[in-house]
Amino acid sequence: MKRTLSGIQPTGIIHLGNYFGAIHNWLPLQKEYECFFFIADLHALTIFQKPEILHRNILDLTKLYLAVGLDPVKNIIFKQSAVKEHAELGWLLSCVTPISELERMTQFKDKSTQHKDNINAGLFTYPCLMAADILLYDTDFVPVGEDQAQHVELTRTIAKKFNNQYGDVLKIPEALINKVSARLKGLDDPEKKMSKSAPSDYNYIAMTDNPDLIRKKIKKAVTDSGTEIKFTPEKPALENLITIYHLTTGKSIEQIEKDFAGKGYGDFKKELAERLVEFLTPIQEKYNSISDADVEKILAAGAEKARKLAQAKMILVKQTIGL
Ligand code: ADP
Ligand code: TRP
Repeated sequence: MKRTLSGIQPTGIIHLGNYFGAIHNWLPLQKEYECFFFIADLHALTIFQKPEILHRNILDLTKLYLAVGLDPVKNIIFKQSAVKEHAELGWLLSCVTPISELERMTQFKDKSTQHKDNINAGLFTYPCLMAADILLYDTDFVPVGEDQAQHVELTRTIAKKFNNQYGDVLKIPEALINKVSARLKGLDDPEKKMSKSAPSDYNYIAMTDNPDLIRKKIKKAVTDSGTEIKFTPEKPALENLITIYHLTTGKSIEQIEKDFAGKGYGDFKKELAERLVEFLTPIQEKYNSISDADVEKILAAGAEKARKLAQAKMILVKQTIGL
């Protein structure tokens, strides 16, 4: 069976952009592939984290994985830091990764501008650890948002370089990118991606936002000039809201335009808010029903399964290198 692997950093709230750009695309993969879904807690340390908040975020993100329907029995759900082979392989890969490749990474450039007071070595070698996450399990497919495509491409380059140098031990993975949802934009600024690090909370809808807050945020979302509900690049704000409507309801863009023919932005936004409430309420109910103890148990069982595979792969890799 082919393998897929993906992860998210536990660095705070998860918004619709993260959900539709990443987790949502993982759901159908469970049927077809052997899946690894992990919490990228080591990656999170490239930005300063308060220990007690980081721990809370790890549990909450795992809860969300479970609440949206990732099955902990069928899939391997675990925490990156619980399988030390990730860091070990990360080091080996950093020794074949050209600095010039790391310097090209958009995320490094963005994050080192955002966090000028903490441009640490981890932020720079981040893609080597990400490559290790992927290559440790002979992953075939890596479902990620568009902004991570560059890192998956670099993973392929690193794996090929390693294989050329030492022999064919690493499997070359492929990115899986869902075009429609690849990049949701900020509700307050449709020129930029929806992001939890945006200056205003009105930039995003968090998966845990309550109905009143969802209604408030959608009402406040910026709109374009004109009145017609039309999906066009000339109306970037509306294009983004229609995409959200499409993703939450499964209705086609054409159908949405038809349904709102002759109606205005106000009507559309009201409906969109209600559809979002309907979509998020059952997820939130499930989320609230999962205890921290349940999560700890699931993470421990997942790590045990992952560790077995990771250890076997590391033995092979180390032999190949001559360690
Ligand atoms: P943020 O920018 O909110 O801090 P992260 O960088 O932690 O988000 O991204 C976590 C995952 O969510 C990644 O797979 C990323 O591709 C995806 N993602 C983040 N923002 C968006 C967005 N606006 N649209 C689509 N996917 C996104
Ligand atoms: N870098 C990814 C992000 O910021 C998270 C991540 C770490 C990841 N390792 C990975 C995603 C391996 C896919 C595969 O979202």
